[in-house]
Amino acid sequence: MENENLLKLKNAALKDIEEANSVDSLNAVRNTYLSKKSELSSLTSQIGQLPPEDRKAFGAALTEVRVAITSAIEEKMTYLKNKELEEKLEKEQIDISLPGISYEPGGRDPFYVIQDEMIEIFLGMGFEVADGPEVEKDLYNFELLNIPKDHPARDMQDTFYINDNELLRTHTSPVQARTMEAKKGAPVRIICPGKTYRRDDDDATHSHQFAQIEGLVIDKGINIGHLKATLELFAKKMFGEKREIRLRSSYFPFTEPSVEVDINCANCGGKGCNMCKGTGYIEILGAGMVHPNVLKMNGYDPEEYSGFAFGVGIDRMAVLRYGIDDIRKLYTNDVRFLKQFKKMS
Ligand code: DAH
Repeated sequence: MENENLLKLKNAALKDIEEANSVDSLNAVRNTYLSKKSELSSLTSQIGQLPPEDRKAFGAALTEVRVAITSAIEEKMTYLKNKELEEKLEKEQIDISLPGISYEPGGRDPFYVIQDEMIEIFLGMGFEVADGPEVEKDLYNFELLNIPKDHPARDMQDTFYINDNELLRTHTSPVQARTMEAKKGAPVRIICPGKTYRRDDDDATHSHQFAQIEGLVIDKGINIGHLKATLELFAKKMFGEKREIRLRSSYFPFTEPSVEVDINCANCGGKGCNMCKGTGYIEILGAGMVHPNVLKMNGYDPEEYSGFAFGVGIDRMAVLRYGIDDIRKLYTNDVRFLKQFKKMS
């Protein structure tokens, strides 16, 4: 076959490539000119039948034609694919009448709303926020708070032990000892919010994990009047101006005297109702004057310094404030409860 025919074949192919106006038709062109059944392929297989002196030149001519067709197809293919993609994008329309996916904005967890509110109240009275570890030493959790190894008060605070000397703290009170240690005899006015643990059978009003805010004030001349005024202001800010507090005598090993602090029931105003179990009062926290032994053990001279301390349950405040019927709702993250709370607040 002469090169003239090859040239014709090449030109016909290039013309078809140029005229192809879709990816599919270009694929068909490729099939016609480059497949095993194409004229070019059959010419290639016939090289062996030519006189030896012609084979090389004819082979080179065939290759030249194949390369020209292949690269023209590749170039056109890129062009057509882009064009088809652009057309497809242009055709795609957005149906603005379709209902969208609605994402509800989140809300704050009631536990943290209350915790922040409590912290704010005490910051306003000049307290600093202190911190302490949840895995605590027996020394700080008990010993330095006047609760020695054989003290019966330990029975009420059974907890999760890591080893003989370390445990999950049963209250935030160990931060009292830690703070006194750090302040080295200087005046103290701190609160410490944090998680606490006790072995408990969980139900609507008991939880093995809960949270408290500890308070400690130590200075010269601190008396029980300071304790009462501080906690009264806290109760009014937390539960309304009309609330009054009552101090009931109690016992804690680290305070003397010790008190339980109640507020008059907001629901019945003190007459007695279901909320306050007929007593007219609701217990909100424990407090007292820092025991002289505790001052002494932690580096303060009880002849010179005195102080008061208190411990208030954060979960309990949330339960009281929002009338939550099951304390576990505060940490199970049930979306239904959180939504209900968002509507309330
Ligand atoms: N730590 C006590 C408890 O968890 C609460 C408490 C009572 C803390 C009296 C105090 C306090 O600081 O003075 O039961």
